[in-house]
Amino acid sequence: MSKRPATDVFHDWALVGKDKGMERGHAASVSEMLSFISKQVEVSGKAFSAVDVGCGNGWVVRKLQSHDKCEYAMGIDGAEAMIAKAKTIDEKTDYIHALLPDYQPSRKFDFVHSMEFLYYLNDPENMLKLFHDNWLEDGGWAVIGIDHYTENEDSLSWPEYVGVHMATRTTKEWEKAWQDAGFVNINHWIAGGEGGVTLVFTGQKQA
Ligand SMILES: C[S@@+](CC[C@H](N)C(=O)[O-])C[C@H]1O[C@@H](n2cnc3c(N)ncnc32)[C@H](O)[C@@H]1O
Repeated sequence: MSKRPATDVFHDWALVGKDKGMERGHAASVSEMLSFISKQVEVSGKAFSAVDVGCGNGWVVRKLQSHDKCEYAMGIDGAEAMIAKAKTIDEKTDYIHALLPDYQPSRKFDFVHSMEFLYYLNDPENMLKLFHDNWLEDGGWAVIGIDHYTENEDSLSWPEYVGVHMATRTTKEWEKAWQDAGFVNINHWIAGGEGGVTLVFTGQKQA
């Protein structure tokens, strides 16, 4: 089966309301990822900025904004209908329609959050390096969750089933990619509660 760009597929998904299903399906894992962010904010005691990359309809951006220490949060996605939806729900927030890895942010962030986005890229290792070098403040954290990886055998049929490219890596290969990108204090866990499969990696840019 020939592969379509992931952003075209997710554009279509937004048109038929499948973004809401993803929101529900990803909620438990994202809740753990946001708890990690809250813990770091508590440690620093400072206001923070954040970006959600591959933000879909923007639901995580709005969750980040609801934190009382959040001074700025924005979202980026390459699917036009996802961003249109995000703007309809909340016209005051910055939701940017842009393709990655080409888009360069005009500012840096304390947190880069991303759920179920990274492996759609041809070179996710390079994106990690870009997050580290160009997107994060010194001392900032990347918090990235993925459900498609080698050890999650059920996910290995997804590229054929969905008809999009997915970069399949082992947990060890992801760990090396985070190290090679320059991150320190790298950790990972499986999120999503009982039966959860989300491989979450967190890593910090040296302060
Ligand atoms: C599985 S969805 C996840 C959406 C959202 N994070 C969520 O959890 O509901 C993946 C998202 O990544 C976006 N995406 C995939 N490849 C992209 C690229 N190269 N540039 C920008 N966005 C991309 C898609 O458009 C889609 O909205």
